[in-house]
Amino acid sequence: MRIFVRDTHRSSGELAARKLGAALRRRPNPTLGVATGGSPLGIYGAFASGVGIDGIDLSEIRAFALDEYVDLAADHPERYANVIDREITTRIGLSPMNVLVPDGMAADLAVAAATYEKAIEDAGGIDAQILGIGRNGHIGFNEPGSSLGSRTRVVALTDATRTANARFFDGIQYVPTRAITQGVGTIMRAQTIVLVAHGEEKAEAVRQVAEGAVSSRWPGSVLQMHPDVTMILDESAASRLDLLDQYQAEARLLG
Ligand code: PGA
Repeated sequence: MRIFVRDTHRSSGELAARKLGAALRRRPNPTLGVATGGSPLGIYGAFASGVGIDGIDLSEIRAFALDEYVDLAADHPERYANVIDREITTRIGLSPMNVLVPDGMAADLAVAAATYEKAIEDAGGIDAQILGIGRNGHIGFNEPGSSLGSRTRVVALTDATRTANARFFDGIQYVPTRAITQGVGTIMRAQTIVLVAHGEEKAEAVRQVAEGAVSSRWPGSVLQMHPDVTMILDESAASRLDLLDQYQAEARLLG
């Protein structure tokens, strides 16, 4: 795992965009794993200004969402299909037909989850995956206790996650209780992963993910086993790392 600390969200978004762009350039018609939430917005801003994407035709990229709420109406503004359309597809110029999101309205959610997993496989897997991290260490909606080998499936959202996401709704009672998420094992199959985290409220999760025991207690900790993960943090999110000097020495070597 490589860890970089940047002092503005703009510079962390630009660094992430350059790392992702390098991974996307490795094959024609590459696949990008996109994440919702506040953390990746700087990446989409960077892409929208052309950072990291020289020579890449974004309209040719196939994008896969990490997750989707179950049972939010098709026109609900917080349904991730709509959030992604607004904040990513339109903003950076993806082609809407190339953007896939799990079907949280499907009559058979288990079938929808399996279909989604297969669509990722059929696309040849994810070349470059964007991640945030939950305060409880979740990646996607893989809450603590998720199997580290899990695939795309229906999950129950924890109260902690529903509370964190209540800011997007009129109250916690409106936050869905279930979601379809790529599994931890699905995410681990991505070729390159770039995780962005900001703020003191993420510091403990960052510490556990980077330096704690690999455990389903903090699902993101499994990223320690992945060969190509870059974490881009602000100083607050990095503030509880014991090995920060070492990461910074390595970051200087890598440039
Ligand atoms: P955030 O969400 O980027 O909005 O903090 C990250 C997550 O919960 O995975």
